This record gives sequence, C-alpha cells and structure tokens, in this order.
Amino acid sequence: MEKTFLMVKPDGVQRQLIGEIVARFERKGLQLIGAKLMTIPVETAEQHYGEHKGKPFFNDLVNFITSGPVFAMVWQGKDVIEISRQMIGKTNPKEALPGTIRGDYGAFLSKNVIHGSDSLQSAKREINLFFKEEELVAYDKLMNKWIY
Ligand code: PPS
Repeated sequence: MEKTFLMVKPDGVQRQLIGEIVARFERKGLQLIGAKLMTIPVETAEQHYGEHKGKPFFNDLVNFITSGPVFAMVWQGKDVIEISRQMIGKTNPKEALPGTIRGDYGAFLSKNVIHGSDSLQSAKREINLFFKEEELVAYDKLMNKWIY
C-alpha cells in the first residue's frame, strides 16, 4: 500500500491545528500508521530539504522548521501521495484554494502549516529519515472493509 510523509509544521502546532489536520485525513478514509511530536535536529532538517540547498529561502526554511515542535506522520492508502497533496493545496497559501488545508489555514509562504511528500521517491526518503521501521504500525480496520 502506498505511504506518504506528512508533517504539521511549527506554525500549525503552535496554532493548535494538529487535531483539525489529522481529522481531515481520517475522514478522507486514509490510515494513520505512524506519528510523533518532535523537534527536528538542524542536520535532519538540512537533509530533509537537501534538494533546496543553495536556494535563497533555504536558511529561513531550516531555521523555521527547527524553531519548535512539528507533528510528523506517516499515512497509508491508495494514491495517498496525490490525494494528500490535493488536500494540502498549493505551496503559497495565497494561491491555495479554499477547502484545502493551506487555503483554509495558511498565512504566508514561509509559514504554510503542513508539509507533504511530492513523489513516491521523496515519500520513501522522508519516511526513512523521520521514522524507524518499528515505529510504523499497520493494522486492519475489521469493520470497515471499504476504507484503508
Ligand atoms: S521550488 O523552488 O519550487 O522547488 O520550491 P517549492 O517546492 O515551492 O518549496 C520548497 C519548500 O520550501 C518552502 N518555501 C519557502 N520557505 C520559506 N520562505 C520561502 N520564500 C519559501 N519558498 C518555498 C515551501 O513551503 C516548501 O516546503 P515544504 O515543506 O516542502 O512545503
């Protein structure tokens, strides 16, 4: 089953949006298989955003993501990467449609509430960076065969 890495960023945690965000993905029928509240070490943040090294916003991005706790999650489901990206909305909250997480809660480009993996390759890399195999828990929902 496809998996993705989603993370409520420090602004979302400070604004007490964890529950609201988790509820959206649960209601969609996706399955949460790993989660933790954590402060990201600078080296991990630099690795996570490694592809953006050298861009003008890189230092601000690393400073921001390490500035306070984040809520790191792994979600599972058919096409979960594409579905979660749609639910998150465009990177810049100004352009994100109402009904998406960034459209409804995002304030600025540099504080856009949530991160979501953008491809199978980055999902695998990001899950491995933030979670150990034994921290992921797959389980059947016995009563609801039509959801994951
Ligand atoms: S790019 O250059 O198009 O690949 O970048 P993009 O995918 O739009 O954004 C990559 C991540 O950087 C964040 N970002 C910023 N942070 C701070 N300041 C500025 N100006 C800025 N621009 C982009 C953006 O939210 C992306 O982070 P994630 O966590 O992947 O959403």
